[in-house]
Amino acid sequence: MTQALQNCRNVEDFRRLAKRRLPAPVFHYIDGAADDEVTYARNTRSFEECDLVPNVLAGVEEIDMSTTVLGQKLAMPVFCSPTALQRLFHHDGERAVARAAAKFGTLCGVSSLSTVSLAEIAALTDGPKMFQFYFHKDRGLNSALMAKAKAAKFDVLTLTVDTITGGNRERDLETGFTAPPRMTPASLASYALHPSWTLNFLLRPKFELVELKDFYSEGTKDPVTVGGYFSSVLDQSMNWRDAEQLRAEWGGPFCLKGVMSVADAEKAVDIGADAIMVSNHGGRQLDGSRAPFDQIAEIADAVGDRIEVILDGGVRRGTHVLKALAAGARACSGGRLYLYALAAAGQPGVETALANIRAEIERDMKLMGVTSVSALNRDMLRYR
Ligand code: FNR
Ligand code: LAC
Repeated sequence: MTQALQNCRNVEDFRRLAKRRLPAPVFHYIDGAADDEVTYARNTRSFEECDLVPNVLAGVEEIDMSTTVLGQKLAMPVFCSPTALQRLFHHDGERAVARAAAKFGTLCGVSSLSTVSLAEIAALTDGPKMFQFYFHKDRGLNSALMAKAKAAKFDVLTLTVDTITGGNRERDLETGFTAPPRMTPASLASYALHPSWTLNFLLRPKFELVELKDFYSEGTKDPVTVGGYFSSVLDQSMNWRDAEQLRAEWGGPFCLKGVMSVADAEKAVDIGADAIMVSNHGGRQLDGSRAPFDQIAEIADAVGDRIEVILDGGVRRGTHVLKALAAGARACSGGRLYLYALAAAGQPGVETALANIRAEIERDMKLMGVTSVSALNRDMLRYR
C-alpha cells in the first residue's frame, strides 16, 4: 500500500487526495452539489447534532454488523450507492468499485450512466449488485436497460425518482464540466496540470456510456452536461403508475431512490416496493431539501414495519451509520464515501475506504455496547 494511501484514514483524507489527482472539472463534479450547497453540507452536519448514549459492560468481544436488505445479506450495514461516469474518476471505474464492494461483502450500486457494461460488471464478482434505473422518454432504451439488468442477473433494481430535471450544479457551469470532458480554454490548464489523469483518459479504452451509447450520442461521442442529460432524455411525465409497472416488469427486489416524504413512502408501500432510499441525491438536486438523517425517523416510524428504509447521503463515519440505524434505517448507502477513494487510488483506494468505515463501525458498536445492529435503537440517541 502506498504511503499516500496509508495516510488516508477517513473520507476527508481521500477527498484531499482526489482533489490533488483530478482535473478541477472532474473533482468538482464529484464534490459539488446544487445551488448554495446548503443541503449537501447539512446532510453530514445533521449527524453532528445528534449524540449517542452508549451502554457499557455489555460483553462485546464478538460483534456482528451484518444485515439483510432487499433480500441481500450484507457483511456490513453500508453499501455503495450508484454513481455515474466512474471511469472519469479512475480508469478502472465501475470495475474497481464492484470488486471492492464484493471483497467487503456489500452491495454495489451501478448507474444507468455506467462506463462499464452491466454484463462485464456481473462477470467480475459474485457480490450483490443493484442496477440503478433512469426512466427515459425512449421506451426502447428503458426496455433495453431492463433486459440487460435481467440478463446480467443483477439482484436489485432501483428507480431513481429525484432527478426529474437537473439540479443547478453551479460548479459544473463554472468549470464547464461535461461527459465526456470538453477541453475549453478554461479547463485546458487543469487537464494539462494533471498529466497522469489526462494520459489515462486519452490512452485507455474509450470513455463511453456503455448502456446508453446505442440510443444517444450524448455522453459518449457528444459532450453533455448532467443537467442537460436529465432535462432532455429523462421522462418528466414519470408517475407512480410507471414505477409500479417497472416493479412488475422487473419481478425481483425493487427500490425507490430519492423518497423524502412520508406520503411518498406510503405510496412506495402501496406499489409493492421492497425498500426506499431516503435521499436528496447528495444535495445535488433540490437545495434546501431536508437531510436524510433529519427525515429518517419520521419515515421509519410511518412505514418501517412495511418497507425497508435505507438512509442515503451524508455518511462519512461509522458513527453516522450507527446513528442512522438507531433512528430506524435498515442500512445506509453513500457515494462520496467511496468516490473520492476511487479517484485517489482505484480499487485499492475503495478497499481502503470500505476497510476504514468497517473498522469504525466495529469500534463504535463495541463502544456503544451493542453486539448486533438490531440492538441499536432510538433510546441511544439524544437530539440537541
Ligand atoms: C451520484 N448519485 C447518483 N445517483 C443516482 O441515482 N444515479 C447516478 O448516476 C448518480 N450519480 C452520481 C455521481 C456522483 C459523482 C455523485 C457524488 C452522486 C447520487 C448517489 O447515488 C448518492 O445518492 C449520493 O452520492 C449520496 O450522497 P453522499 O454519500 O455522496 O454524500
Ligand atoms: C449526478 C447524476 C448522474 O448526480 O445522478 O451526477
